[in-house]
Amino acid sequence: MTKKSPAAPDLDPSGLRKGLTSYGDNGFSLFLRKAFIKGAGYSDAALDRPVIGIANTGSAYNPCHGNVPQLLEALKRGIMLAGGLPMDFPTISIHESFAYPTSMYLRNLMSMDTEEMILAQPMDAVVLIGGCDKTVPAQLMGAASAGIPAIQLITGSMLTGSHRSERVGACTDCRRYWGKYRAEEIDDQEISDVNNQLVASVGTCSVMGTASTMACIAEALGMTVPGGATPPAVTADRMRIAELTGAQAVAMARQGLTIDRILTADAFENAMRVLLAIGGSTNGIIHLAAIAGRLGLDIDLKTLDRMGRDTPVLLDLKPSGQHYMEDFHKAGGMATLLRQLKPLLKLDALTVTGRTLGQELELAGPGFAQSVVKTMDDPVYPQGGIAVLEGNLSPGGAIIKQSSADPLLMEHEGRAVVFENAADLADRIDSDALDVTAHDILVLKNIGPKGAPGMPEAGYIPIPKKLAVQGVKDIVRISDGRMSGTAFGTIVLHVTPESAIGGPLAYVQNGDRIRLSVSRREISLLVSDAELRRRQELKPISPPTAARGYKKLFLETVTQADQGVDFDFLRAARPGDPAAR
Ligand code: FES
Repeated sequence: MTKKSPAAPDLDPSGLRKGLTSYGDNGFSLFLRKAFIKGAGYSDAALDRPVIGIANTGSAYNPCHGNVPQLLEALKRGIMLAGGLPMDFPTISIHESFAYPTSMYLRNLMSMDTEEMILAQPMDAVVLIGGCDKTVPAQLMGAASAGIPAIQLITGSMLTGSHRSERVGACTDCRRYWGKYRAEEIDDQEISDVNNQLVASVGTCSVMGTASTMACIAEALGMTVPGGATPPAVTADRMRIAELTGAQAVAMARQGLTIDRILTADAFENAMRVLLAIGGSTNGIIHLAAIAGRLGLDIDLKTLDRMGRDTPVLLDLKPSGQHYMEDFHKAGGMATLLRQLKPLLKLDALTVTGRTLGQELELAGPGFAQSVVKTMDDPVYPQGGIAVLEGNLSPGGAIIKQSSADPLLMEHEGRAVVFENAADLADRIDSDALDVTAHDILVLKNIGPKGAPGMPEAGYIPIPKKLAVQGVKDIVRISDGRMSGTAFGTIVLHVTPESAIGGPLAYVQNGDRIRLSVSRREISLLVSDAELRRRQELKPISPPTAARGYKKLFLETVTQADQGVDFDFLRAARPGDPAAR
């Protein structure tokens, strides 16, 4: 009988043998690891199975992930039925309303946490449970850098509520009702009543905000099982998707189907088509740029704009349309949308099932009559939801969500009313002394990646109260910040380079004329180059700094919106580069 040396080199780096802790003796490292995990009651038979890690983002601070305990149960069932061993582990969880100063400030930290925990702990594949806006992009970024087989499980959307027999849901209706309250159209009692109805269950926002956008994008990228984007959080369909996801993760581990084979240039092109066709959140383009950057790929804004000219908005969901996510699910979900978009898609792109997007569409079968996803001949909006603007005010590009803008304001020239930063805006926006008319253009500076910092969703500048009470519902707004995907209006965002690093936006003054032309894709400051140079020389800008901690890392390494607001050192140098280790 041959005796295996306990110190034999690790020839099968899978399951619990992956990434052994360094004690200088692999045999001892494995022996010790098994001794500890057996303290939790595991048997050798269990420990010999493929290990499926589960990034568990359940948190009392994140009601959008409030169904994670049920998802975990279904997911583990799926993993064990398929012969795997589920091992869940905690990571950072970010909720939009519970993240100070803004969730975007923490997205990269969550992506680093996800990447490092995937690589530090033994697992053959990982399931990423995400839902609320920044969680899915953070997980896809981290998993892309980690490079092992990975699959996304979406938590799912919340149910809609009812306020005085009107159907409501977060968060487009949150903004609409708050606008009514500001305009003094509803009283304290009614705003308090509607507060109870806007979020009718756990789950993510029920309109086409960033969470729903990223769920649809994850499926378009091939990163979820088919149909994984749309089931609401509290439904049986969502639990079945979780069970299926667990089984698929085991298959991926066995096949060695790594994430770089799924997140290809073709997959990103499909995701951009879907972003445009769903009237998706403007945040989606930032997140796509960041995920692609982790694989050494670029998202070109000019390409996005070109695609937008022949990709109509087909999905009739708020804020561009009228329905909610649960209606999209009942209408067949992503399969219904992808069937319409089929001529524009890269059908050979691989998905987590090991089959291509085209094969999955064939398997999904024929569609059925419904009214939520429109046809290419009769779209919700004739072009894609997002248009890319250029001009001397934004040499690195800016965007506008044209599908939720006022058509009468999309060709507009007006006088700038300038706010220097978010605090200045809060101080003066409701002042009777504010010199503003409905024809002016509101400009907000210093809410870009470094300016705020973290590029908060403050680009949805509220209508000044004196105009709101006159019944003004929209006004052109420009900033270097972002806005929630649930917001609407004629709002120019992501002005690049941002004002905090000396972009032209920093030098706009009250009374300057600005021209917006969405048809010509133009955003221009009607001030001469000589005058702009004079202003720059008079007031050179010093970018913000911090003495220590995460803020220092953030301010020193964060990139601009066109690069996804990722940290520069996390981007892969070239396509195909493995994780930087
Ligand atoms: Fe979590 Fe809207 S707040 S998805």
